[in-house]
Amino acid sequence: MALKITVIGTGYLGATHAAAMAELGFEVLGLDVVPEKIEMLKRGEVPMYEPGLEELLRKHVAGIEGSSGRLRFTMDWAEVGEFGDVHFVCVNTPQKHGEYACDMSYVDAAFESLAPHLHGPALVVGKSTVPVGSADRLAARLAALAPAGEDAELAWNPEFLREGFAVNDTLHPDRIVVGVRSERAEKLLREVYATPVTAGSPFVLTDFPTAELVKTSANSFLATKISFINAMAEVCEAADGDVVKLAEAIGHDERIGKKFLRAGIGFGGGCLPKDIRAFMARAGELGADQALTFLREIDSINMRQRGQMVELAREALGGGSFLGKRVAVLGAAFKPDSDDVRDSPALNVAGQIHLQGGQVTVYDPKGMDNARRLFPTLAYADSAIEAVRGADVVLHLTEWREFRELDPAVLGEAVTTRLILDGRNALDPEVWRRAGWTYRAMGRPKA
Ligand code: UGA
Repeated sequence: MALKITVIGTGYLGATHAAAMAELGFEVLGLDVVPEKIEMLKRGEVPMYEPGLEELLRKHVAGIEGSSGRLRFTMDWAEVGEFGDVHFVCVNTPQKHGEYACDMSYVDAAFESLAPHLHGPALVVGKSTVPVGSADRLAARLAALAPAGEDAELAWNPEFLREGFAVNDTLHPDRIVVGVRSERAEKLLREVYATPVTAGSPFVLTDFPTAELVKTSANSFLATKISFINAMAEVCEAADGDVVKLAEAIGHDERIGKKFLRAGIGFGGGCLPKDIRAFMARAGELGADQALTFLREIDSINMRQRGQMVELAREALGGGSFLGKRVAVLGAAFKPDSDDVRDSPALNVAGQIHLQGGQVTVYDPKGMDNARRLFPTLAYADSAIEAVRGADVVLHLTEWREFRELDPAVLGEAVTTRLILDGRNALDPEVWRRAGWTYRAMGRPKA
C-alpha cells in the first residue's frame, strides 16, 4: 500500500512539499493552525506568489474538478496523527525579536501537538531549519509524548528549495539529505523519495547533527559568496574596476563557479540573513563561536550594501539632502519571481531614502500588497512607467525580467532626469547610455 503522508505547516515550504508529495503519487493531508490558509488551500489557492504552485495544487486538491483528489487539508491534529505513516514538519523558524537566535516555538508546538496522537508506528520528519542539536532533543520529546513510544521515530531532512523555483526544486532536488537513526527510517525515506532518486537526485545519508548542519552551512556558504563579490565591488568602486567583468572572469574557474556572484544591494529574504545569525548564535552556545566570527563580517558587508546604494543615489543627485527629490524604485520583493518582501534590500533602500525626505514611488510586479503592508507610508505606482514619471533618479533594485526588458527610450520620455542606478547589476549599461541615460552601479566604471 502507498505510504500516507502528512505535512504540518503550509507556508512556502509546506504547501509546496504537500503538492509535490501528491504529484509523486502519495495520499497527502496538510495541516496548518491558521484557518484562512487552510480555507484558501482547500480551494486550490496559494497564499503567496510562487510560479507553478497553484497549478500543481489544483491538480491534486480533493474536490477540485479534474484533480487526483490525493491532497486534502485539515486543522485537526487527531486526524493527522491517525492518517499518516510519515509526518513532515515544515513550520517556520523566524529570527527571535532582539536576538540572533531563531525562534523554535512553532517547531516545538508542532511536536507537542502531534505526538499525543501517534498511537502506532510513525516517522516524523523535520524539514524546518533548526539549530544543530534540536533533532536530538525533539526525538526524546517525541518518544516521551507519543503513546506509540519508541515506535514514533524522528528523522531530519532539510529542504533546499529557492523561492521562485520552489516547485521544480522540490520535484527535482539537487540532493536529498536525510539524518536517520534506524534502517526503518532510512527505508521509509527512500520510499518517499524513490522517484527523484531514480531520476538522479543524490541521496545523502547522515546522522542528526550533520543533517541539521548541512542546511545552515549551505546557506552560510551562499551568503559568503554574495558578500565576497560585494566586497570586491567595493574595491572595484575604489579602484575604478568592473565587478561584473571580474565575476565573469573568476567564474570561469570551475572551482569558483559563476553562480551567486552577482554584486549589488545584497541578500535578503526569510532565510539567508536569519540563518547566518542563528548559526552564529548556536555556535556560541556550543563554544565554537570563533569558527563562525567570519559570518559577522558577511552580515555586515551585506547590510553595508544597502547604505551604499543610498549614498550612490545621494551622490548621483548632486550630494546633500534628498528633500524634494523624486525617486523611483523598481522592485520591492527580496528577489525576482517572488512576492516576498521579508528583509528586502529593495524596500530597505526605498525606506531609508523616504525617511531622509525623498519622495519615493515604488513599483513591483508581484510584491505590492506585501510592500504596502510593511511600508504603508511609501508611495506606490501601478506600473514601472507610472513609478518613474517625473523622477529625478530611477533605482533598479529587484531584477525582474519585466525591468530588464524596459525600453530606456520610452522610460526616458517619462522621467525628469535620465539617471538610472542599477542596484542589481542586471541591466545593460550600453543600452541605457545609448538612449541618453546616465547609468551607475556599485563597482562599475562611471562611463
Ligand atoms: C535560499 C537558498 O538559496 C535556498 O537553497 C534555501 O533553501 C533557502 O534560502 C531557504 O533556506 O529556505 P531564497 O531565500 O529563496 O533561497 O533566495 P536566494 O535565491 O538564495 O536569494 C537570496 C538573496 O540573495 C536574494 O535577495 C538575492 O537577490 C540575493 N542574491 C543572490 C544576490 O544578491 N546575488 C546573487 O548572486 C544571488
